[in-house]
Formats: sequence, C-alpha cells, structure tokens
Amino acid sequence: MRSEDTLTLVSRDAQGIDRAFRADVLAGLGQAQKAVPARWFYDDAGSRLFEDITRLPEYYPTRAETEILEARGPDFAAAVGKGRAVVEFGSGSSAKTPLLLAAIAPAAYVPLDIAGDFLRDAAAGLAARFPSLPIYPVEADFMREVALPDAVSHLPKLGFFPGSTIGNMVPRTAVNLLRSMRGTLQADAGTQPMLLIGMDLVKDPAVLIAAYDDVAGVTAAFNRNLALRINRELAGTIPVEALRHKVRWNDELARIEMHLEAMRDIAFEVSGVRFTMRAGETIHTENSHKFTRRSSNLLLAAAGWTPRARWTDAEGRFSLILAEATEPRSAP
Ligand code: TRP
Repeated sequence: MRSEDTLTLVSRDAQGIDRAFRADVLAGLGQAQKAVPARWFYDDAGSRLFEDITRLPEYYPTRAETEILEARGPDFAAAVGKGRAVVEFGSGSSAKTPLLLAAIAPAAYVPLDIAGDFLRDAAAGLAARFPSLPIYPVEADFMREVALPDAVSHLPKLGFFPGSTIGNMVPRTAVNLLRSMRGTLQADAGTQPMLLIGMDLVKDPAVLIAAYDDVAGVTAAFNRNLALRINRELAGTIPVEALRHKVRWNDELARIEMHLEAMRDIAFEVSGVRFTMRAGETIHTENSHKFTRRSSNLLLAAAGWTPRARWTDAEGRFSLILAEATEPRSAP
C-alpha cells in the first residue's frame, strides 16, 4: 500500500526515529521519479510556515473560502437544516469552523484529527466560543472509517472538509477517502449524511503558479523545510542549498505540482542509504488538484455523493460544495 493511502500514529525506534517517516522517505527517494508524501511537511516549522502561506497576498484559497463561509451562512442553514452533528475531517487549528457552526446551529461538533495536541487546543477554543455546543474531539486517522462517539450516533451528520485538502490527493486516494467519509458519517437514523467540501477551481495557470510560488519565498521555504527535516530527523546529508523550489502546472492532470529540483549533480545519504540526483532531476513533494464544476461532480459521484448546492467567492476562484450521500440505483 502506498503511504498516501494510510496514516499511522507515530512509532519510533530505539534512536527515536519515526519509522513511518524513514520508510516513506527511503521508498520515495528510491523511485525513478523521487517523491516524498506531502504529509511529512507538517512538523512544527512546516505547520508555522503553512500558517504564513495562508496569509500571503498570492495565496487566495484561504481568503476565498473564508469569504464564502462568511457570506453564505443563511444558505447553509437553509440547505442543511438544524440539529446535525458537524464532523470535521482533519480539523487542525481551523479558523473556518466557527463560521460554519455559527451559521447552522448544529446539535454537536466532532473534530477528527491525527494530532491530539492540536485537536484538544482547537476544541477548547471552540468550547469557549460556543458554550452550549457539545464537542466530542476524536483523535483518529480520518483516511479510514472512524467510529464516532455514541453521543452522536443518533444524530444526522454533516461532514466538513475545507481547504481543498481533497485536491492534495490523487483521484484514487480522494475517492477512497470520500467513500470512507460516507461510512464514518452514516447515521443510524434514516437521514442521509451531507458533506460540505472545499474544492479549488481551475483558472489562469499564472494565478495558480503564483499562489504556490510567492515572491516572498515562503512556499519555497515550506518546500525546502522537508529536506531540512529529513536532514534533522533521518541523519540526512542533503545539500539543501543545491535544491530549488519548482512549481509547475500539469495541465493534463489539472494540478499544481511542487518539486525540489537539483541545481547541480548531487549525492547524499539518508539513514545510511546513498542517493544521487542529476542536475535538473526533482523530488516531487506535493500535488494540488484543481477542479471544474463537472470534474468535482464526477469525483463526488464516484464515491456515492450527489452535489446538492455549490457556492463560489465573488471572483469565482474557489468552490464550496454541499453533497448528500445517495443510494446507488439501477440505471442504464
Ligand atoms: N490544500 C491546500 C492547497 O493545495 C493547502 C496546501 C497543501 C498547500 N500543500 C501546500 C499550500 C503547499 C501551499 C503549498 O492549496
């Protein structure tokens, strides 16, 4: 199974090395197209840099999605109805959640995250803002089906997955996740679960590339931090100054790709294993798929979700889609 299909809780060896990180890096650097799974970006330094990315002038997705959440509260309330349990996938430190919770008067809030510390801090912050809302944080890997707390089993569910995080997965993984979300959210009661999901839209490649290659170099630092982290945590000797941040728009697959490109021939070790890169060779570090109305409909439909409503920001850059789980029916 490729590492993108699974997340495991941290397991360290006698030297304190994260086994999953080492396994992913060694396997990824051993491929013809070198690649490291994007989840390893997010150590403390990486998480801080990502927060900075969301405030960059070029990085529009966070602002565009927040604009929709601020503007469309009454629409969400009408489409979703009252009394659902909101289940947020990978809640992290999300600043967007209060906007949704304030808009729809949910019966409970269930943040799911693999990072327990983050999860408890965020839950405490929300509890202060919404004192009468029951909050049940669950520390879990949301890539698999998660058993929700008994307290919400009888409630109809609304999944929340903002940030176009679905776009960071290849379609196969994205469909697997959307299907397992349906399993996680399936209520005992007759009501079908709903899902409010953010998807960034295809647009002028120059705008897309700028969003991932900002003038201030914050995204470049975020990308290079992955190599620094490998050096720090896996006894790596990667000459990081020889790697440059490279962003390209892959039109065939409708995605932004981030790479670390060797500016000269280099050789280095990671955990005692030797690797080489020729000048121009890259390590592929991230994908961010961009969607059209039809491609988002197709991805959701492939996983058993039927789009019921969609909203975009005023400039039409980003979409929030409300989908409902539907039973398959026989058709031609
Ligand atoms: N899902 C967001 C996006 O694709 C966030 C993100 C993931 C991101 N990796 C990134 C943003 C790397 C900038 C750089 O935009």
